[in-house]
Amino acid sequence: MSSSLVSLLVVGLAAFANAAPRDLTVDLGVAENFAVLASAGISSVRDCKISGDIGVSPAALSYITGFSTSFGSSTAAAQSPYVKGAVYAADMSNPTPAYLTAAVSNMETAYVQAARFVNPDETELNDGDLSGLTLAPGLYKWGTSVYMPTDLVFNGTAEDTWVLQVAGTLRMAADVRIVLTSGAKATNIVWQVADAVTFGARSHFEGIVLAATGVTLQTEASMFGRILAQTEVALQKATVVAPFVPEPEVVTKRSVVRWL
Ligand SMILES: *[C@@H]1O[C@H](CO)[C@@H](O)[C@H](O)[C@H]1NC(C)=O
Repeated sequence: MSSSLVSLLVVGLAAFANAAPRDLTVDLGVAENFAVLASAGISSVRDCKISGDIGVSPAALSYITGFSTSFGSSTAAAQSPYVKGAVYAADMSNPTPAYLTAAVSNMETAYVQAARFVNPDETELNDGDLSGLTLAPGLYKWGTSVYMPTDLVFNGTAEDTWVLQVAGTLRMAADVRIVLTSGAKATNIVWQVADAVTFGARSHFEGIVLAATGVTLQTEASMFGRILAQTEVALQKATVVAPFVPEPEVVTKRSVVRWL
């Protein structure tokens, strides 16, 4: 082999190794306005703290339980002492029903978009046991359930994206944390989960959860991100803080006040 061909190969391989990770951005549409959005209901057992809007549709306000909701001057949105943001349900006054129909439709479309990314960087990584791992940006796919028994690190820049496709359940053990390093952002980490999602007591999650069924945050679990669930969300003395919606979109999307 000629030396020029060898150097060409070396240059080519170096370029490949340094290739920017691909863009796995998932478009949440107006579902991005919510800290917690669910089709069938949201329950709070003892005092939860939510920073951001919550909503249910097609379920009615009676399926938001434990939030001590009340109406102010408008019947298009309710308030709750446990929510720094608005509470929406499908049986409220206009324009809320149409807004929620759009948000739920966008959440379902986002789920399908996340599920359709192909050519995973990792398939069946550690057979779904994520003990002690640091995940580089990319597409991860499991045909099974996924369990986080220990802290899980996402390492990448603020521009990097992750999509995690889980065919089974997603569970995080008690007291376990998701840790973001090198500038990685929770809004760029999307979990697409076909079965139930359960975060253990006092665990801390960072990212966007697109769930085909329900999501449960056990006692004093916290998360920075969004829960977009196609059945029910159960919060047990949990804290959910939604990220700020980016500044240029402030006209169409609500920004939120953080609890912490
Ligand atoms: C984290 O990512 C940076 C590049 O973004 C890399 O240089 C570093 O080795 C990574 N650290 C770990 C522990 O993977």
